[in-house]
Amino acid sequence: MTTSTAHTVRTAVFPVAGLGTRFLPATKAAPKEMLPVVDKPLIQYAVEEAYAAGIRHMVFVTGRSKRAIEDHFDTAYELESELEAAGKHELLTLVRSVQPDDMVCSYVRQPRSLGLGHAVLCAQALVGDAPFAVLLADDLMVGPAGGAGVLTQMVRAFERLGGSLLAVQDVPLEQVRRYGIAAGRPVEDGVTRVEQLVEKPAPEHAPSRMGVAGRYVLTPGIFREIRNQPRGVGGEIQLTDAIARLMALEPVYAFAYEGKRYDCGSKDGFLQATVELALQHPQVGEAFRDYLRNLAL
Ligand code: UTP
Repeated sequence: MTTSTAHTVRTAVFPVAGLGTRFLPATKAAPKEMLPVVDKPLIQYAVEEAYAAGIRHMVFVTGRSKRAIEDHFDTAYELESELEAAGKHELLTLVRSVQPDDMVCSYVRQPRSLGLGHAVLCAQALVGDAPFAVLLADDLMVGPAGGAGVLTQMVRAFERLGGSLLAVQDVPLEQVRRYGIAAGRPVEDGVTRVEQLVEKPAPEHAPSRMGVAGRYVLTPGIFREIRNQPRGVGGEIQLTDAIARLMALEPVYAFAYEGKRYDCGSKDGFLQATVELALQHPQVGEAFRDYLRNLAL
């Protein structure tokens, strides 16, 4: 990679074709990524994070019963004209702000839930031969107060380092089996060149406590590794396995982001995000804090 454009991330991929079984029955007919935290669906938080990082092309890898996501990022013609006729200009601006004019959305279907690696491969034709970001919307990431969002931090690091990046955080030893765990050689503050990557290890086999969160910046070499990869557990094509193969060919870095992650694919993480973001919400925060204070817990 020698040109400056080779170091610029222009496309974000949102794999949203999972079944969301941990949230059944809510996810029987509706996508998990449309679950709202306070007043915004999970997918919108992730798209806003990518937009803030300078990315304008959003690629959604969707599946059956995910149509609501396409509708959310499309013009809501009837709603908009009704709001306009009623003079509800603030709401109109809010509805229109979901899709800024300079943002382009593309959609591709993953015909079967064959794993995250397979979902990313489905986006190849739309991404092309360029680096790209992957955001798992069920990981809701909140940057430090007044600071840059998590993907913005990663895009800046990518522009400096030029290699693929995985967002990592330290996780308690008893939780390592829920994560991909990375280990390797520190290269600068908060950045480790990954030498080992293990999916959901038992605590006694974990090479570190650096757990991978749902944000990646990947070089296009990942597509070849996914394509050439044998199927893993349950016939699924895992992204972690492909990254482990990519590591043998080019540098891959673990990036310790600043900020907080909420695992909104699980009920407890989703509830924590709801409470904490509600407390910070400009409209309802104060009243909600009083309500919580008066709860007999
Ligand atoms: P998860 O492991 O959270 O799976 O996928 P899931 O199906 O969404 O949820 P549970 O575990 O059944 O409750 C991680 C991410 O990868 C996407 C999901 O949409 C989620 O964002 N994914 C997973 C796909 O797009 N396709 C797949 O085949 C698998």
